[in-house]
Amino acid sequence: MSKVAAFYYTQTGQGLKILQSICSPLAKAGYEVVYKEIVPKTAYPFPWSSDAFFQAFPESRQGIPCEIQAIDLSDIADADLVIVEYQSWFLSPSIPVSGFFQDAAIQHYLKGKSVITVNGCRNMWIMAQQKIKFYLAQSGGKLVGNIVLQDHAPNLVSVITVVRWLLYGKQAKSGLFPAAGVSPEDIEHAAVFGQTISDALAAGDFSRLQEKLMQQNAIEYKPSIAFVEKTGHRIFGVLSKWVLRKGAYNAPERNFRLQIFKHYLFFVLYVVSPIGLLLFYIAYPFRCKSIREDKLIQCSV
Ligand SMILES: Cc1cc2nc3c(=O)[nH]c(=O)nc-3n(C[C@H](O)[C@H](O)[C@H](O)COP(=O)(O)O)c2cc1C
Repeated sequence: MSKVAAFYYTQTGQGLKILQSICSPLAKAGYEVVYKEIVPKTAYPFPWSSDAFFQAFPESRQGIPCEIQAIDLSDIADADLVIVEYQSWFLSPSIPVSGFFQDAAIQHYLKGKSVITVNGCRNMWIMAQQKIKFYLAQSGGKLVGNIVLQDHAPNLVSVITVVRWLLYGKQAKSGLFPAAGVSPEDIEHAAVFGQTISDALAAGDFSRLQEKLMQQNAIEYKPSIAFVEKTGHRIFGVLSKWVLRKGAYNAPERNFRLQIFKHYLFFVLYVVSPIGLLLFYIAYPFRCKSIREDKLIQCSV
């Protein structure tokens, strides 16, 4: 019987729900799905305080890992497929997931394994996935599929609802604001991707898996969001190094710079990015070809 190793890190439970939905057709088809949680040695808070939230910025962006608890790999040594469910933090893989991919035992485990990644985020997944591709290339794991589930609210609306969720624990719809996170309908619908994965596993052929997943809209590529994300990622790169010059995680000396970053972020989001987007849409007709090419690159494995 084929076996699937399903790794996940989640603070809110959303990541596990997504993974379970994707894995349900695999379990129904008789595959043994073994879930393995990624647990940081020191937990990240949920809900977050504002200070703790921004404290995670430099390490997230620079891929500086945290230590994770050892994962028993003995019962999944013979897994035919590995699925990793993760999330973006500051346009990068979350710190525990960076810890996972940089852990020596995990790197050794992933060598030669077929891997599918699943990102459950607000709406920015491109740069995080590029980093995951880099980690997999380092460990010798073979990326055969990628699925992204995201919040469909407009960008500036989901910034508010995600903050309300992550800092105050309020996910539900209230007043004019929609519920935060990936919708329950999208989570349920993710089972269709699991069926496609199950078929590929049965055929022992993952070569066209991503193509088939894309035919089922496993990733929605939004050109305007991709533009904001790539620009933000470059700026975050400079600012995270600037903060790190004042000290490592939780060093009080870096608090002032983190406060500046926090205010800068909201200014950029609500003042600069709408202007940038306007320019992006003006230039859109001249950039169709490069946007099509970028979509192809980012949505492939
Ligand atoms: C510190 C932090 C930073 C985040 N940054 C991003 C981001 O840059 N882009 C994004 O789309 N979502 C971002 N999110 C939302 C997460 O990707 C994720 O959707 C949410 O935290 C719920 O995930 P979980 O329950 O699986 O942990 C961030 C969340 C946290 C906690």
